[in-house]
Amino acid sequence: MAATPALKSRPAWKALASHHAKIGKTHLRELFGDDPKRGARMNAEALGIFLDYSKNRITDETLKLLIRLAKACGVERKRDAMFEGKKINITENRAVLHVALRAPRGAKIVVDGKNVVPAVHATLDKMAKFSDRVRSGQWKGHTGRRIKNVVNIGIGGSDLGPVMAYEALRYYSKRSMTFRFVSNIDGNDFAEAVKDLDAAETLFIVSSKTFTTLETMTNAHSARAWFLKASGGKTAAVAKHFVAVSTNAAEVTKFGIDTANMFGFWDWVGGRYSMDSAIGLSSMLAVGPDNFRAMLDGFHQMDEHFRTAPLEKNLPVLMGLLSVWYSNFFGAQTVAVLPYEQYLKRFPAYLQQLTMESNGKHVTLDGKTVNYDTGSIYWGEPGTNGQHSFYQLIHQGTRLIPCDFIAFVKALNPIGRHHDILMANVFAQAEALAFGKTAEQVRAEGTADWLVPHRVFEGNRPSNTILADNLTPGMLGKLVALYEHCVFTQGAIWNINSFDQWGVELGKALAQAIIPELESKDSPKLRHDSSTNHIIRRYRKLKAS
Ligand code: F6P
Repeated sequence: MAATPALKSRPAWKALASHHAKIGKTHLRELFGDDPKRGARMNAEALGIFLDYSKNRITDETLKLLIRLAKACGVERKRDAMFEGKKINITENRAVLHVALRAPRGAKIVVDGKNVVPAVHATLDKMAKFSDRVRSGQWKGHTGRRIKNVVNIGIGGSDLGPVMAYEALRYYSKRSMTFRFVSNIDGNDFAEAVKDLDAAETLFIVSSKTFTTLETMTNAHSARAWFLKASGGKTAAVAKHFVAVSTNAAEVTKFGIDTANMFGFWDWVGGRYSMDSAIGLSSMLAVGPDNFRAMLDGFHQMDEHFRTAPLEKNLPVLMGLLSVWYSNFFGAQTVAVLPYEQYLKRFPAYLQQLTMESNGKHVTLDGKTVNYDTGSIYWGEPGTNGQHSFYQLIHQGTRLIPCDFIAFVKALNPIGRHHDILMANVFAQAEALAFGKTAEQVRAEGTADWLVPHRVFEGNRPSNTILADNLTPGMLGKLVALYEHCVFTQGAIWNINSFDQWGVELGKALAQAIIPELESKDSPKLRHDSSTNHIIRRYRKLKAS
């Protein structure tokens, strides 16, 4: 096999570098001034999602060159390999098939000679049956009372997707049920989650791909102890109140959950790509099987768009390429995701794991240290709250922060003038960032000379605006898949493995070594660096006092 050419020596990359030298400083005012049709032209639309990318520091030539780069880097070939079930997660020798989780019944996706789609649907059917029983009150707790509270215990991909989806789809959720999510090893998380719950009406879902994650297993054992204490120590009752979502049947059994109450998934589902697997059980319990399936259909539609649409009209490809443009040619370090939709309040947190655990990598697929930046830092808050906090820096600070604004035409809860005012704000922010306010304009308002520099907005700060009709389960699926495939596109350009996460291991291993040093009765022999030794000794001393 021929060695992959280094990214920066590709002609397409070099062409982009010289193009950047030419147009990199051109102001959006000029780009819009020179082309009155730019706003109506530079957009793409698919599946009810309208992407306005005209307020980016690009020309038609930039797009052509970025598409050329995508082709040169094999984005399409790599994408097809993923959809075909090839083991593209080379460091773990695994296929990457979250797309199979939302493939329609009857589709065929083969891994190791086996079509995985029937098993996906068998699990979905099992989840649906269970959800219907719990939601209808047919599934009863050990005292015969119905389940009113669901507590998902998980962390990372086994938490962030479920919490985000619960919040995003709360409008569609069963209001007579309470949903809580426990993730942190910090005991406060568990204590607060169960404080006001009646154990006899509570169902715990222990969600963990591996079923060995320290945080989740510690919380699961505390939940079991809490439940047993509240229910008079009846171990037999546990079966009615604990179910598991995992790929590890042996560990589930060891914990004491009957595998009949286990919902499985597979090693080809990465944790951060698992919210549409059985890990979404809490989401299904909240919104019901039909809404959950509608969400899966939205995911699938975006998968098909990514798989088949020409690159220049392909929403995730365009977004991925634009972020590469800013990251690698402008030196932008972050991307702000700003949903103007309160129900998406956890979407930026969800995206942090999706984007940064995927693309925070420093070596290429062939193990060479990269000589370019990878893995943009994604962050954000829902609008308009962010406007009254960090937007100042985006508008007038010294750093370039490309923004993704996400907005919906229709409000789920139309109240008076709220929605038009909300939309006015999102459109205004994108406009202000792009065009700013010149010193002449500030002066013309009668501002004193000394104050003028403080009130100038440079502008030329790029953004995408994503406008969709309304936030339905299907639209949530489309949005999440949009970002999943945007991450894929970035990773394919950077030639990294977006599907492993070795970087989380070292800290975990060191914590395991430190736990007995904190718990031991006798002074342990510490072999860390002097700072770590010192702080451990201090902690031990203070906790004993
Ligand atoms: O933080 C590392 C990680 O492995 C994530 O990738 C994963 O989502 C999370 O831990 C939880 O893992 P599990 O579902 O196996 O408990």
